[in-house]
Amino acid sequence: MAETAIDHAPVMVDEVVEALNVRPGGRYVDGTVGAGGHALAILKASEPGGSLLGLDRDPVALERARRRLKEYAADVKLIQCDYASVAEVCERESFAPVHGLLLDLGMSSMQLDEAERGFSFQREGPLDMRFSPDQTITAADIVNKYDRNDLADILRRYGEETRAKRIARRIEERRPLHTTTELAKVVEEAVGGRVRRQSHPATRTFQALRIAVNQELLSLDTALPQAYGLLGDFGRLVVLAYHSLEDRAVKEFINRESRDCICPPKQPVCTCDHKARFRRVGRGAITPTEAEVEANPRARSAKMRVAERLPASAA
Ligand SMILES: C[S@@+](CC[C@H](N)C(=O)[O-])C[C@H]1O[C@@H](n2cnc3c(N)ncnc32)[C@H](O)[C@@H]1O
Repeated sequence: MAETAIDHAPVMVDEVVEALNVRPGGRYVDGTVGAGGHALAILKASEPGGSLLGLDRDPVALERARRRLKEYAADVKLIQCDYASVAEVCERESFAPVHGLLLDLGMSSMQLDEAERGFSFQREGPLDMRFSPDQTITAADIVNKYDRNDLADILRRYGEETRAKRIARRIEERRPLHTTTELAKVVEEAVGGRVRRQSHPATRTFQALRIAVNQELLSLDTALPQAYGLLGDFGRLVVLAYHSLEDRAVKEFINRESRDCICPPKQPVCTCDHKARFRRVGRGAITPTEAEVEANPRARSAKMRVAERLPASAA
């Protein structure tokens, strides 16, 4: 494992620590601990007495986190699991209520850089894309076995790819595909090569396959509603998203949960009995500074949203 990975810069790290309202002695869950960059900053800011439970589906990432956080070993527990089971894991570990829950979604730049993981169309590797080796479906299964219409649906839905049908048809014609670079070439054949400064034509296809392989939106939709039960009064939920599908899910969750009524706007009388359980923090998404984007291009698409759990008496 390259030591440079340890230097991986967490996105908007100061903003995350501030948004989580990290305090000495606080208890935090990092649901996507990755290489532990955010976790390290949280642990530093929560000294003395802070603690952190770090989750990740990827055992390789957890190993990196373990090494990066070794000076805080006594205050950290790392567990390999899907953050979709965050409430159950915290209960089992007697780690609740917590002061903050962080989700930094998607894949890390280290996963992208590891050719053998199959996340990158720029590096030759197998069509894998699983966060965890325990998962059964790989990108190769979807690319080579799914019906053409189902494949197009995945590209459209998770990649917001407008040329999904054309790409799916060409993939079907070229089956079986074995490697990332083979797939990238087939996408280029279907829709043409890269145009000047636009992103590579395979970007959306790879994003879609990764989301489908890992059921990423399902994990997010399953985890968000667990935040209320997990957080103590005024505990903070902080989510960093890197594409519009995830950001939309987070935004809709926070908007809905910070309103006292969720009846359709035209309905004259409220019948929903819904009560706000969170307060939205900030007017909308918080984005990285230009200086950060210049130093770390991966931060470019980041959007951070923050919500504070209201005390039970207010909800
Ligand atoms: C953007 S990286 C996190 C980087 C981390 N914040 C840091 O400072 O190093 C996202 C991480 O989330 C993990 N991940 C993605 N989906 C997950 C899920 N459903 N459950 C647990 N971990 C997940 C990935 O394996 C990856 O390591």
